[in-house]
Amino acid sequence: MAQATLTIDPAFTIGPVRRRTFGSFVEHLGRCVYEGIYEPGHPTADEDGFRGDVIELVKELGISTVRYPGGNFVSGYRWEDGVGPVEDRPKRLDLAWHSTEPNTVGLDEFMAWARKADVEPMMAVNLGTRGVAEALEVLEYANIAGGTARSDQRRANGAEEPYGIRMWCLGNEMDGPWQTGHKTAAEYGRLAAETARAMRQIQPDLELVACGSSSAFMPTFGSWEHTVLTETYELVDYVSAHVYYCEGDNDLGSFLASAVNMDHFIESVVATADAVRAAGKHTKRIHISFDEWNVWDQKRVESYIPSPTGDDWPIAPPLLEDHYTVADAVVVGNLLISLLRHTDRVHSASQAQLVNVIAPIMTQKGGGIWKQTIFHPFAQASSLAKGAVLRTLVDTPTYETAVHGTAGLVDAVATWDSESGELVVFAVNRAQDEATELAVDVRMAGLELVEATSYSHSDHTWQASPEDDSTVLPVANESARTTADGRVTLSLPAISWNVVRLRRA
Ligand code: AHR
Repeated sequence: MAQATLTIDPAFTIGPVRRRTFGSFVEHLGRCVYEGIYEPGHPTADEDGFRGDVIELVKELGISTVRYPGGNFVSGYRWEDGVGPVEDRPKRLDLAWHSTEPNTVGLDEFMAWARKADVEPMMAVNLGTRGVAEALEVLEYANIAGGTARSDQRRANGAEEPYGIRMWCLGNEMDGPWQTGHKTAAEYGRLAAETARAMRQIQPDLELVACGSSSAFMPTFGSWEHTVLTETYELVDYVSAHVYYCEGDNDLGSFLASAVNMDHFIESVVATADAVRAAGKHTKRIHISFDEWNVWDQKRVESYIPSPTGDDWPIAPPLLEDHYTVADAVVVGNLLISLLRHTDRVHSASQAQLVNVIAPIMTQKGGGIWKQTIFHPFAQASSLAKGAVLRTLVDTPTYETAVHGTAGLVDAVATWDSESGELVVFAVNRAQDEATELAVDVRMAGLELVEATSYSHSDHTWQASPEDDSTVLPVANESARTTADGRVTLSLPAISWNVVRLRRA
């Protein structure tokens, strides 16, 4: 059996576990908003039409921030269409998703939902079809106490207190030719800088996110970040990163190693941001808002949900309703490991998305709710990662992948909460056919094994469904034990996500 060893020293910290690592994303896309978070008349809906069963699972998932309202959608969005009396709100074509936006849910409804779901909002402004003026108006509407046209409009609409939204994304994926109002890096960089400068005149302490590349696979990746940050460096706090992975060409080995690519992506953005810092003689550092990441198999989804075309502009059609496998969940867990180990530079992240659209939570109209496979690693990491992220030395056998080069069979990260005395190891086994024996060597006396769980299945293509979302759950790993020399050993099943908890005795 293959063998791997983790060496962990609680003194060697990378940075704090950030709650914002466990963010998510709600876009006006498909059934994410309508029939997702919002479904008046549903048996669990409250007086505002929000599904109580969704809010319950959002809390169970441990979501911290929620990015809103897009995504590609925001690049054609007129935020003012979504406020005021619902019966007066116009219906609009949504070019991004070839749908009709009814505007029944807008900023005020989303903020009411965010309060109930106990999540921090992260708002995006439209820099596709719009610019500085509209960004200022929505900021005034949201954050000014009163006494101005837009703030008084908010109060008249029922929200007496300002929302105090701190994080704002300056547009979305402006490097992508699919984006409404797509721009060159120079065009976008200038617009983002001017928008940020003006927004800070209203509220200097905002946290602003400039658009990075829509993936590291874009031909402009790197040069885009360089140009945009050269324009915006002193005006923004974060540059965004987006990525989606899927298994291409039946190449499971490469897919399971997707986090190798995410590591490389993050380190490349950091290097570029630091190069701009050096060249511009800046002192502050730019951090990453990894505000879209997930597994998303576009071909798989299109095969069962074709997108609307032609004269068909439906309201909230089922779109991007990917059905996730056990292997997908292991990759999602591994991507969380990558985000955590870069906690020094990744200060915020949003899994895309939250409900129905490439999502951990799925709803049935008028009916039940179910958890996708990817729900479980997220929920475990979100609830158990606390304190500090530790440098985790992984000594593992490797294998060759066609896409990402050499990859370790095992990948892992650990967190240490000095207050509670809990050390948690998150580990994946990428081996496809056999277990890997893991030894965890913690350089600290007096820790006892609390529990170890594994998430895996003999059929890694197993998917949850509305009828069955609980055949595969994280279960106790009975092989875990403490050896005479104080190490913890356990057998990681093939293609698995694993959590080991140790606590100060
Ligand atoms: O999350 C789905 C879409 O993927 C988002 O709207 C867009 O930003 C990205 O391309």
